[in-house]
Amino acid sequence: MNSGRLTVENACKKYGRQEVLQDVSLSVFAGERVALLGHNGAGKTTLIKLILGLTGLTGGTIDVFGHPTGSDGARRTAAYLPETVNFHGMLTGREQLRFFARLAGESGKQVDGVLEKVGLASAADKRIGTYSKGMRQRIGLAQVLMRRPQLALLDEPTSGLDPISRRTFYDLVDELAQAGTAVFVSSHALTELEARTDRIHIMASGKLVAAGSLDALRKEAGLPTRITVKAVHEKADAVAAKLGGERVNCSSVQLTFGADEKLDRISAIAGLEKGLVEDVDLAPPSLEDLYRHFTAKGDGSDHIN
Ligand SMILES: Nc1ncnc2c1ncn2[C@@H]1O[C@H](COP(=O)(O)OP(=O)(O)OP(=O)(O)O)[C@@H](O)[C@H]1O
Ligand SMILES: [Mg+2]
Repeated sequence: MNSGRLTVENACKKYGRQEVLQDVSLSVFAGERVALLGHNGAGKTTLIKLILGLTGLTGGTIDVFGHPTGSDGARRTAAYLPETVNFHGMLTGREQLRFFARLAGESGKQVDGVLEKVGLASAADKRIGTYSKGMRQRIGLAQVLMRRPQLALLDEPTSGLDPISRRTFYDLVDELAQAGTAVFVSSHALTELEARTDRIHIMASGKLVAAGSLDALRKEAGLPTRITVKAVHEKADAVAAKLGGERVNCSSVQLTFGADEKLDRISAIAGLEKGLVEDVDLAPPSLEDLYRHFTAKGDGSDHIN
């Protein structure tokens, strides 16, 4: 038991004969932003529901900031944004949030501020039935923010949001984490998560196949880094010969190498004589590359942890 974090230990879940989760262990500390990735049916929502006590474990334990999962204490500690948010269509956004505040035993005086934060101030008095998918998603997020929870469980929270709203969403996640909330986000949106989470967990077929910071996952995977060197007109062959790279078209040379060679390769490029190189683009393995690597490796039959 630990009052400063969420701890999942060897969580197992079966539905009938199907083992949906097998020996999943992880922690999320206060103030951390942790992502949960995995294919459709990998078990992400099931894990979140287990943490919330909405469904029971068939093995293992879950401790929510010092409270066993399913207890009143755990329920008070965690706020949840489900995959699909459903509200009463007749209520306005403001009414919904006031109602929610009353249920939580709060006065509701923060409702206007939260509506502003999620960008719904101007739609606050329209019925939720008239809201777009993204606007309903924002009401769900507003409910999480109003709780100022110790633990926020967000299940694919950006699925209905446009690109700018996604960015605003992650700004709000940062704010929550800075205020000390442990944020656990499941998502398929790899690119946006890359820069906005502290640690990443990857699941495949109910098993955790990788866990760590982006840097740690890069080290563990050992995937190559790529540098694309754009050569000055008609100098691509000369650049390829000097750097030992591969010419990919009439003007670019690609170098592919292990992460430990990065500095040597960069200094070799910097050391080239003037008039050969126009531009340089460095691409370390992306989260998508890592995701592919670890899910292919795990493919449901291996357990790496
Ligand atoms: N109530 C249930 N009864 C039986 N099987 C279930 C139930 N809920 C989930 N499952 C099964 O558990 C597995 C994991 O489902 P889960 O919803 O956790 O996946 P997910 O990772 O959230 O997927 P997605 O990315 O599509 O949301 C699936 O095979 C699903 O069919
Ligand atoms: Mg899901």
